Amino acid sequence: MTVDSNFEVDLQGKKIALGVTGGIAAYKSVEICRRLVDAGATVIPILTAGALNFVGAQTFKALAKNEVITDLWSNSDPMIHTSLGRSVDLIVVAPATANIIGKAACGIADDVLSTTLIASRSAVVFCAAMHTEMWENPSVVENVETLRRRGHFVLDPESGELAGGDIGVGRLAGIDVIMRTIWELLEQTQDSPKVDISQQNTQVSISSHNQHFRGLRFLVTLGGTREAIDPVRYIGNRSSGRQGLALLNIAARMGGTGFAVSTVDVPKSLGFEVIHVETALEMQEAVFGKLNEIDILIMCAAVSDYRVASSASTKLKRSGESIQLQLVENPDILFEATQYIASHDLSVITVGFAAETDNPLENGKAKLIKKGVDLLVVNNVCEDGAGFDTETNAVWILDRENTISRIDLSSKESVAEEILKRVFKSIYG
Ligand code: PMT
Repeated sequence: MTVDSNFEVDLQGKKIALGVTGGIAAYKSVEICRRLVDAGATVIPILTAGALNFVGAQTFKALAKNEVITDLWSNSDPMIHTSLGRSVDLIVVAPATANIIGKAACGIADDVLSTTLIASRSAVVFCAAMHTEMWENPSVVENVETLRRRGHFVLDPESGELAGGDIGVGRLAGIDVIMRTIWELLEQTQDSPKVDISQQNTQVSISSHNQHFRGLRFLVTLGGTREAIDPVRYIGNRSSGRQGLALLNIAARMGGTGFAVSTVDVPKSLGFEVIHVETALEMQEAVFGKLNEIDILIMCAAVSDYRVASSASTKLKRSGESIQLQLVENPDILFEATQYIASHDLSVITVGFAAETDNPLENGKAKLIKKGVDLLVVNNVCEDGAGFDTETNAVWILDRENTISRIDLSSKESVAEEILKRVFKSIYG
């Protein structure tokens, strides 16, 4: 299979079941069907009763040049769900409504598509599309989480205009994105985890749309810790949690699951178990509680090195005098974690961050050794657009072999992608 920069894919020899469900975006699956056929795939369209309210079976039949499956009973093959489930390389559900996501998560098999899904061991990609309220509904969030945990690929909907003129998250992902995801999933299932990562820097050809981290568990810390001075005041820092959220987002897209130890809100739909913490000591406890269960530790949080020795139980009042706060050192969580991992012979890739204000590379190299991490992401937080509470970041990724990769100013999502590609390289060499 090959792919060019416009996501024109070659899917010769691939057999794909295209499940279409009853959402307004069903008309877009006509185009998906055409693109798959043009790419050389054998496409078997499966239309639910809901889909037939939006699109016609004849359209798919003409495009796919194949029988269109609309129920379990009126096919030449009486066991259509199992024979299809066994013979296809991939099932694409586009659009995937809240209904089919719920059925798949709960194991309900009450029509031809849900029954085929349950009768198949092939990879599945659900291209979610629904109204924002539905996508954010806790039951949908949990169902998406369940599917991701089981290793299915759920492609998030995009923001934009929805049926009825509403605006919000819920539009079916772009067709190029869907085609690329299909291609990458097929590539992965063909040769997993074979990828071309011949270059040591950020130009690796692995992609954040591929489920490279399927089956691997992350622990990502994010946000800034707060150390109480009194019930209303604290020692804190400017971390917004954006860089950590971007890491979680991309890790989820790449098939990762696990834990987010966070001082900020983390969307449940990402599929990570969220452990809310406030202080460094709470973070330490949360991290150590999960160290034996993870494959990758990424400490992106800005952790206070000091806490107030004894915080006041009531609000400090003005007295006309200056006051002194006695600070005691917090544990160095990352250092302790790498020590624990080494002494317990755990197989965990460790990634630290360094927030530097001067000599970033020199200080970063020393910090990599001191903290005992596999990779250190250094940001010069005095650089414009980089570091705390910005939408963008610019970093260097250092490793133990002294290689240095620079990622110039770009979105925190792009930085997260490059970091995770580097993590992937550390795992698979
Ligand atoms: O959240 P954003 O607004 O998006 O900003 C992102 C960020 C600037 C917070 C992030 O990119 C970043 O640099 N995070 C690390 C901040 C930091 O605490 O750096 P440090 O150099 O002080 O610490 C080095 C490493 O040790 C970090 O991985 C830190 O999590 C860890 N640490 C630090 C102190 C401590 N007591 N225990 C620790 O584990």
